[in-house]
Amino acid sequence: MLNSRPSTRPNSIATLFLVVGLMAASAPAIAADTVALSIDLTKPGAKIDRNLFGQFAEHLGHGVYEGVWVGPKSEVPNTRGIRNDVVAALRALKVPNVRWPGGCFADEYHWRKGIGPRRAVTLNPNWGGVTESNEFGTHEFMDFLDQIGSRAYLSINVGSGTQAEAADWLEYMTTAEPTALAQERAANGHPAPWTVPYLGIGNESWDCGGNMTPEYYVSQLKSYARFSRNFNPAQQKESERMLKIAVGPGGDGPRWTEWTDVVMKAWKAHTWSWDMDGLSLHNYTVVRWPPAYKSVGFGETEYAEILKSTLDMDRLITTHSAIMDKYDPEKKIALAVDEWGAWYARLPGSKEGFLVQQNSVRDAVLSALNLNIFARHADRVRMANIAQMVNVLQGMIMTDKEKMILTPTYHVFRMYTPFQDATFVPVTFEAGFYTHGPIALPRVDAIAAKDKAGKVWLAITNVDPVRPVDIDAALAGVVAKAASGETLTGLKVDSVNTFEVPNSVAPKVLTVAIKGGKLSVTLPPMSVTVISVEQ
Ligand code: AHR
Repeated sequence: MLNSRPSTRPNSIATLFLVVGLMAASAPAIAADTVALSIDLTKPGAKIDRNLFGQFAEHLGHGVYEGVWVGPKSEVPNTRGIRNDVVAALRALKVPNVRWPGGCFADEYHWRKGIGPRRAVTLNPNWGGVTESNEFGTHEFMDFLDQIGSRAYLSINVGSGTQAEAADWLEYMTTAEPTALAQERAANGHPAPWTVPYLGIGNESWDCGGNMTPEYYVSQLKSYARFSRNFNPAQQKESERMLKIAVGPGGDGPRWTEWTDVVMKAWKAHTWSWDMDGLSLHNYTVVRWPPAYKSVGFGETEYAEILKSTLDMDRLITTHSAIMDKYDPEKKIALAVDEWGAWYARLPGSKEGFLVQQNSVRDAVLSALNLNIFARHADRVRMANIAQMVNVLQGMIMTDKEKMILTPTYHVFRMYTPFQDATFVPVTFEAGFYTHGPIALPRVDAIAAKDKAGKVWLAITNVDPVRPVDIDAALAGVVAKAASGETLTGLKVDSVNTFEVPNSVAPKVLTVAIKGGKLSVTLPPMSVTVISVEQ
C-alpha cells in the first residue's frame, strides 16, 4: 500500500539540499538577460510520440464519478451520462490515450460488475473505502473515449484477478465472432468489437498490485501476456496490434534497478508464446512521503524545492533506459511513464483518500519541464500518462457540481498539442541558473520540433519566478517568415484558478518579432511559452 513508500523513495530533503548546495556553489554567474538559443533543423531526432500526452483516469475520489460521469438523469448537461463540458475541454487536448480503471483500483476491479443493466455496488478499499456503484464500466468508458476522440489503455487485474478473467474481458471487448461473450456485448448495446490498442499487465505489482518480487511478477507477466488476446479483426495487422505494457519500476534505487533488470532479462529470453512492448515507470514529484507540500498558499522556497525534485525524472529515465539498452539496444520496448505528476497534501476539508489538490503556476512549469524531459528521451519514452485527468492529483480539470475550471496544467497540455507526433529537433542555449537559497535550477528550459506540415514549434519555460528573460532564437535550416506565440504565467508562484476566478492563470498571446532571421521575444517570469514558426 501507499504508506509503505517512505522507505522506497530516495528524495530525502537532506540529499536534495546537499546536491543543490554543491550545484549552487559551482554555478556560473547569472547569465545576461538575453539568452541566445539555436535550433538546428538540419539534425532531426526521434518522433515525439503523441502518447506522451496520455491521461490517467482512475476510480478514485471524484476523478470518474462527478468528474466524468454524472449519469443520464443528472442536471449537469451530459451525453449518455458523461459531462458535456468535460468532454469539450478534453477534445481540445487531443488526448491520445486514457489509462483506466487504475492504478491500485485496477488490481481489485472485476469487469463483469461493470456491465449490463444491473450493476453490483461494491467497495473501493484503496481510496477512502467508499462504495463503487459500477455505473461507469466498460461500455461507459469506451463511450467516453469516443466522445473525447481518444483510445483505450486498459489495465487488467493481475493482483486479485485471474488469467481467465482478463482473457474473457478482452474477448468480450474485441471478438467479432458470435461467441457468448460477443452476444452479451451486443445485448448490452455494442455489437461491433472495440479497439483496445494498449494493455497494462498489472499496476505497481511491487506494492498495491500484490507486493510481488520481480521474479514472481515475471511469471505472472508471462502467463497474462500469453492469454490476454485481442481478437479484433482490425487489430491483427502488425501496425495495429495491441501493445502490452509490463509493470516497471517506481524509483531509481537498487530495488528498482533490479526490477527493471529482471523484467528486461526475461523479455530478452522470451519465446514465441509471450511478449511485451513496453515497461512502465511511475514517478511522482512529492519530495517526501507522505505528501506534505501545499498545493496553494506556498512561497518561493516550496516553488524551488518542488521544481528541483521534478527534474529527478530525467535521472530516473536515464537510469532505466541504460538497463533497457543492455537487453534491447534497438529500443523495441518503450518506456511508458504511465503515472507522473505532482502529489501534494490534500486540500483542507477534502476527504482522505480522494487526493484533491489545487493546481498552480508551479504545476504549469512542472508539466512543461517533464514534457520536455520526455521529448528529449523520445527514442525510448513513447508513452506517458499524467496523474490524473479530473479532480485528482495534478489534474487537467476541476469540477464542482455543474461548474468546471481548467487548471494551469490543462493549458500547458493544450499549448503543447502541436508537439504530438512532431519530430524533435535539437535546441542549444546557455541560460545560467535561477538560484534560491541553496537551490540552483536551470533558469530556462526549451525544446523544439517540426510538425508534419513543416511548421516549427518552440516551447520555452522561464523557471525564474522573478526575472523575465529576453530570448534571441536562431534557426539553422529554415528561413522564418512569420512567428506567433502564447504564454502562460500568473501573478504569484501559487496563483491558481478557482471556481470564483477561473482565468487567473490562462494563456495570453505573445508578440514574437523576427529580426535578421532570428526570433526575438521576452518571456515573463515563471512562464511557459509555445511559439510557432512558419517557413
Ligand atoms: O495515482 C494514484 C495512485 O498512485 C495509483 O493508484 C497508484 O498506481 C499509485 O500508487
